[in-house]
Amino acid sequence: MKFLILYYSMFGHVHRMAEAVADGARDVPDTEVILCRIPETLPPDVLEKVGAIEPQKSITHIPVCTLQDLAAADAMIFGTPTRFGNMCGQMRQFFDTTGGIWKAGSLVGKVRSVFSSSATQHGGQEPTILSVHTTLLYHGMIIAGQARLDEITGCSPYGTSTIAGNEGWRWPSENELA
Ligand SMILES: Cc1cc2nc3c(=O)[nH]c(=O)nc-3n(C[C@H](O)[C@H](O)[C@H](O)COP(=O)(O)O)c2cc1C
Repeated sequence: MKFLILYYSMFGHVHRMAEAVADGARDVPDTEVILCRIPETLPPDVLEKVGAIEPQKSITHIPVCTLQDLAAADAMIFGTPTRFGNMCGQMRQFFDTTGGIWKAGSLVGKVRSVFSSSATQHGGQEPTILSVHTTLLYHGMIIAGQARLDEITGCSPYGTSTIAGNEGWRWPSENELA
């Protein structure tokens, strides 16, 4: 099975979550795990102003995702940081290039899930994940969520998430990574 992990991460939290997903998926027999980045759309001067240049250097070794990667995958998980309670614009723009895949029905019946990160505890993980669900429902995909209640966590039945904290001081906890 080809398992695709596609994500965008500006400061590294979603990237850390993506690595944890990959570690877990590699334990599943006969699974090829592919990590890829959603292409950047912000100009370098904006990335510099928000302090994203250095954090992004640590993820440039991850290949950029293509539409062929998407069509070839058997299952996939999408990772996006919250942007005002919505998916990031980079992911939205990537989805807006998938009309051909939609027309061909390439994703119909495939299992997928979504994970997220927000700065604050109720900062919009759930609407962010739902915003991705909406697009993927149009693609005919089957949703899988996650949840646990035994400790404070970014996760919810909608999907996995983490809380990055203002200025990104907090990193994914053991249970969020699990
Ligand atoms: C334009 C913008 C909008 C954001 N909107 C929210 C928000 O609505 N709620 C929130 O908790 N965090 C918000 N954040 C914080 C990001 O979600 C946080 O930086 C991100 O989850 C960290 O993940 P990353 O390190 O993978 O980029 C926003 C950040 C930016 C740059």
